[in-house]
Amino acid sequence: MCGIVGYVGVKNASKVLIEGLKRLEYRGYDSAGISVLLNGHLAISKTPGKVSRLEKMLPDAGSSVIGIGHTRWATHGEPNTVNAHPHTDCSGRIAIIHNGIIENYSALRTKLASMGHAFKSQTDTEVLAHLIEEFNKRFMNLEIAVRLALKEVDGTFGIVVMSESEPDVLVAARRGSPLVIGLGDSENLIASDASALIKHTREVIYLHDNEIAVITKEKVQLKNLEDEAVERETEHLTFDLEQIEKGGYAHFMLKEIHEQPDTVLNSMRGRLIDADGISMMGGLREVEEKIAKARRFVILACGTSWHAALVGKYIIEQYAKIPVEVDYASEFRYRNPVLLDGDIVWAISQSGETLDTLAALREAKKKGADAYGIVNVVGSTIARESDAGVYIHAGPEIGVASTKAFTSQLVVLNLINLYLARKRKSITLEQGKEIVEEMHRIPDKIRKIVENAGQVESIAEEFKESRNFLYLGRGVNFPVALEGALKLKEISYIHAEGYPAAEMKHGPIALIDENMPAVFIALRDSTYDKILSNIQEVRARKGNVIVIANEADDRLKELADHIIEVPTTLEALSPILSVIPLQLLSYYIAVKRGCNVDQPRNLAKSVTVE
Ligand code: AGP
Repeated sequence: MCGIVGYVGVKNASKVLIEGLKRLEYRGYDSAGISVLLNGHLAISKTPGKVSRLEKMLPDAGSSVIGIGHTRWATHGEPNTVNAHPHTDCSGRIAIIHNGIIENYSALRTKLASMGHAFKSQTDTEVLAHLIEEFNKRFMNLEIAVRLALKEVDGTFGIVVMSESEPDVLVAARRGSPLVIGLGDSENLIASDASALIKHTREVIYLHDNEIAVITKEKVQLKNLEDEAVERETEHLTFDLEQIEKGGYAHFMLKEIHEQPDTVLNSMRGRLIDADGISMMGGLREVEEKIAKARRFVILACGTSWHAALVGKYIIEQYAKIPVEVDYASEFRYRNPVLLDGDIVWAISQSGETLDTLAALREAKKKGADAYGIVNVVGSTIARESDAGVYIHAGPEIGVASTKAFTSQLVVLNLINLYLARKRKSITLEQGKEIVEEMHRIPDKIRKIVENAGQVESIAEEFKESRNFLYLGRGVNFPVALEGALKLKEISYIHAEGYPAAEMKHGPIALIDENMPAVFIALRDSTYDKILSNIQEVRARKGNVIVIANEADDRLKELADHIIEVPTTLEALSPILSVIPLQLLSYYIAVKRGCNVDQPRNLAKSVTVE
């Protein structure tokens, strides 16, 4: 998704902005641009493609100490130079960068055009530049102009604006798109993500929705859009830059797959009470009773987080005996869902900024439901707007394909399940203890799987030219099949379908021939015997069978072309293990096909548009 960096201080602004934009590259983008103030005038450089290309075309801007930079992920208008940000007003004296979508841009554009404004781009953002110009002409003050312009706007925005007429000021505002201000010594920065600031400062202020910030090199003033002053505590960032760099791996995705023994441990650290066979999560303490008495859970999420939610449904219904409905956030939001007394809504999101999930959470709250979050990014919007919640503590996830966040989401869902099952007495103390003990063993079991990456790589070599894949599983392995298929399609661009294995005979079986690899998740669990028959069905039609199986499974050895072994564990925990070979398989296939694994085409890390 789009990235924002702004700088005002004493250093070479172009350099700071380019470095910041590089830190934001992982978010996904298709064009980039910066604007700096050079000899009293805005110097703007923009290009489709990568920040490195922008860097090469920059003028010598050594004397510039203020500027804004942007990476754009196209929503309105194709990714070209004209549509890249920053955008300017008619005079070229005001420049703006924007994340989000101006929903009423078309009406605003018509109105502004009739007033004589000339538009250069097809973007929604450019209307803001012209609106601000209008108000700036009247009030000769950038902050006021921005505030009044934003009053006319429907939609979401994180913006930073600069003007030749106020050469030492950046004005920023947010509604729905995150912005964080970095406080330095004779310099201040602003960005859509703290990773762009951390080289310069660890002291930050998060801008909230409907707030505006006036930033100079000496100070930062916060107000709401009603022009009332806002006080906000400074926060200290604790994560390291190394944490968000590749750490010796070829790609962030591979690094993140290998981090999972640690990230999974972080997700459960301090949350398991061994002696009582139960879990404890600080973020839920206040609402523990409510959760335990819930009549139904409704879990909302998108993409990989939705797959985690589906695993949650299987395990919570089986152990805690609470009915669970899992909904795509985007569907929930618009279908006027029925929420009843005793319903608890959960939103699962790695980024905590996914607009569909955020909007669904707000919709649920509007309908009076208690809404809790399961989120990775601390301080993100979903985390802040949830009534309570649990952080998954997977650390920054940079690869667009979610890996370690998924397994940490599964850990947290298991923690919640364990808590509920024990509180509701649907499992005994002994069963609770068994789950706790097995959870402690999971990190080592993951270690064993990632050590076997070489075998997965050789299977990837064999199948890298395949045009289609089927992923099949039953029970709790079905969401894992969905996740395996999503991983493959998003980074290798191979068409892949995840299916409940028994559904295959109702249609997809027609696709099977010697060119169709079918990946089965066939663990020795409650669905084992059934899935063996499904594997036979594929074999009989000459399909290639790759199986994720438990160690030493002789029956499967006769049926499969390839077996990737994972250690045995409890059924509820098994998706945490069985998904890892699938992550590796998609990674190696994508690399062998020469795909951009960390930034796949058309995708963004944090999807903050509808
Ligand atoms: C995962 O590999 C995807 N890139 C995507 O489906 C993602 O999980 C989805 O956009 C939801 O993101 P969130 O968890 O940050 O809300």
